[in-house]
Amino acid sequence: AVLNGPNLNLLGTREPEVYGRTTLAELEQQVRDEAGRLGVTLSWYQTNHEGAFVDAIQGLRGQAEGALVNAAAFTHTSLAIRDAMLAVRVPFVEVHLSNIFAREAERRHSRLADLAVGIVAGFGPQGYLLGLQGLVTKLRG
Ligand code: DQA
Repeated sequence: AVLNGPNLNLLGTREPEVYGRTTLAELEQQVRDEAGRLGVTLSWYQTNHEGAFVDAIQGLRGQAEGALVNAAAFTHTSLAIRDAMLAVRVPFVEVHLSNIFAREAERRHSRLADLAVGIVAGFGPQGYLLGLQGLVTKLRG
């Protein structure tokens, strides 16, 4: 499962100097293509709402073997999303298009990172592909 948080629906036009010009639909297609190459079934979700994100995480239980999570700004703020990941215990890779550790101080901390199998940040859309490859390799381990 791939879960995308707030404002990622605006990819392509949103701060292109930070996030690039690839739209969310194009990113989804790239990740679906990679999932096909890897032989895994993929579900894709984006929401701007914290509660909906929590619901989506809860819905992973028994449904997904692993997840790519770009919680966007919720990464830095949301205990509810951390608690949801702790509750479902689905292995996940934290993904960010930008290198959050090279940005403003408030973005340099993640409330999810210590729960993640790994983190990919700073590679733009390619980071989702790298994250998926890493996650699948780990799960097939
Ligand atoms: C982001 C980084 C976050 O700090 C930011 O709030 C986002 C996107 C990224 O993919 O680089 O919305 O998660």
